Amino acid sequence: MKLKYKIWLFALLCAADVFLLTAMVRTAALSSGHVHVSAEEGEWRLENTGNQTIQPEPDRKVDRCIALTFDDGPHPVCTPKLLDGLKERGVHATFFLMGQNIEGNEAIIKRMQEEGHLIGNHSYSHVQLSKAGTGAVCRAVDDTSRLIEEITGERPRYLRPPYGDWREELECQVDLTTVLWSVDSLDWKLRNSDRIVKRVLKDAEEGDIILMHDIFPTSVSAALRIVDELKDRGYTFVTVDELLID
Ligand code: NI
Repeated sequence: MKLKYKIWLFALLCAADVFLLTAMVRTAALSSGHVHVSAEEGEWRLENTGNQTIQPEPDRKVDRCIALTFDDGPHPVCTPKLLDGLKERGVHATFFLMGQNIEGNEAIIKRMQEEGHLIGNHSYSHVQLSKAGTGAVCRAVDDTSRLIEEITGERPRYLRPPYGDWREELECQVDLTTVLWSVDSLDWKLRNSDRIVKRVLKDAEEGDIILMHDIFPTSVSAALRIVDELKDRGYTFVTVDELLID
């Protein structure tokens, strides 16, 4: 055998040896159950972590539902941007519209419906419903429902009372299911995507209803980042009616 080939063969055997040795160490470590094996910078590294057993990556559940809700719109610029982003991601949300913002934005509302979002009522001009008289509340809610129905052909079934403020006895008057929230993004106050994202992701869990507003650019960009991150964590986005049925 020529010297050149001998050197190659030797190198090959050395490499095989190192490989086998590494594999043996790794197997021993794994079977002992006391060592955590992690890949760092492309190399295997062994570190003692006491009695901790080796765990696979946390299971990604695929049936964890969560609902994104947007109040106070529609907004002529922010809402279409949000709809674009949600469509790209195949995500449905719930929009609680204010009656006074409907005129001129009919096409946006039609689009919400066509793209599978749920449309709810958020009163006409954001009155605090528990403080207004019953007649005024019914008007604020009915006018908004009527305006939505004229566009979509469907009367809204869900109401988000402004400020989450509601009186039980109003329920029978307006004949709508009130929907509050469990995670408040405080997006109207923070007006900073990073902070909104951080705040929501800290609290978001299975079955949550997240409150946001599609009238600020920072809320739109935050909402889409929240969608991406929660989808990565295995969440499915549903409309509130789907969440309430389950
Ligand atoms: Ni509101």
